[in-house]
Amino acid sequence: MTIVNIDDLRLAAERRLPKLFFDYIDGGAFSEETYRRNRADFSGLALRQTVLRARAEPDLTTTLLGQRHALPFMLGPVGFLGLYARQGEQKAALAAHAAGIPFCLSTFSIASLADVRRVTDGPLHFQLYMLDDASLAEELLTAAEDAGVETLFVTVDTAITAIRERDVRNGFRSLTRITPGLFASFCLRPAWLLDIARGGMPSVRAVEHRADFGRGALEQAANLSRRIDKTLSWDDIRRLRDRWKKPLVIKGILAPEDAEKAKAIGVDAVVVSNHGGRQLDGALSTIAALPAIRAAVGREFTLLLDGGIRRGSDVVKAIGMGADGVMLGRAYTYGLAAGGQAGVSHAIDILHREIAITLTLMGCGSIEELKEKAGHFVFRHGSAG
Ligand SMILES: Cc1cc2nc3c(=O)[nH]c(=O)nc-3n(C[C@H](O)[C@H](O)[C@H](O)COP(=O)(O)O)c2cc1C
Repeated sequence: MTIVNIDDLRLAAERRLPKLFFDYIDGGAFSEETYRRNRADFSGLALRQTVLRARAEPDLTTTLLGQRHALPFMLGPVGFLGLYARQGEQKAALAAHAAGIPFCLSTFSIASLADVRRVTDGPLHFQLYMLDDASLAEELLTAAEDAGVETLFVTVDTAITAIRERDVRNGFRSLTRITPGLFASFCLRPAWLLDIARGGMPSVRAVEHRADFGRGALEQAANLSRRIDKTLSWDDIRRLRDRWKKPLVIKGILAPEDAEKAKAIGVDAVVVSNHGGRQLDGALSTIAALPAIRAAVGREFTLLLDGGIRRGSDVVKAIGMGADGVMLGRAYTYGLAAGGQAGVSHAIDILHREIAITLTLMGCGSIEELKEKAGHFVFRHGSAG
């Protein structure tokens, strides 16, 4: 099959992965309204076409939290990459670093931070779920320091995990070990199975040394989920701010007043995120929530956005509406599942090319120009423009 865009990578991932893993990646919470809105609301925005402003290739570099990046997007935290392709976390990091962008490792990873560091010394971020097990939380922070993590992303929109009905139907949520039925479904995807089997039995490396988390990735992940702190508060974020000296980012903000609080506490940036429509179904799309959040925190505060990014024009729209940069979730995960490291590179290249073409046709010379003239190049469809 010819792969032209991210939707093609999604189809290729669907062909290669066992159904329950594909559905876990692809699905959203309850009726998947917010999941669909994340995509649909990009269509409500238009791009300004200005012509005869001859330029060479647009400059796609940008600076985020003091670091210069080749492209205005990064690979965000996605759990269990190592179940979609053997050494999935390392492969995603290698592809990101080859493209000059950071990779953010999820708490729910098959590989540890040290595993990723062994293969690449590029910019590495870590996504932390605050746990009610203080010693494990401290271990994760120390591991992040040891691995030279640049920025800590603390995810705050998962006090409880919403019901993702595709996962319930597939029995995914209740699985803690490989049943005969599950193994049979794996055998329907031999290329994936052979790849994963070569790596041995996957486990969540961060808790592998803890017998109380059980054995094997599924059981360990179920136990880790139970340990996510359900009573997390702004005071905990204040304490984390004191503990973590490098840049700290809160991921999962949708309300302007929460963004203001984060800024007041001394957090360096927030990610406008609804967890890809996987948590509060009915919530605003992130692109719709962005303008009010930008207005609340002012122009200087760093805002990232994720949710529904599948096209280079989505990245341009997000930045044109006030984001400083964008994080990818499913877009690169489809690439990883479809083709390992080359698949992630393919996803990055597709978006890179699409952004370059979009900016050129808009007559916009750089990401920095797009940021400076926020509101000029992107406007609500149907308004005068
Ligand atoms: C399969 C999957 C696993 C995810 N795991 C995590 C995670 O462990 N930690 C986290 O903060 N966000 C996680 N997310 C959310 C992503 O970081 C991101 O917010 C979301 O995928 C953005 O939406 P998009 O996939 O439509 O781009 C996950 C998303 C998916 C699809």
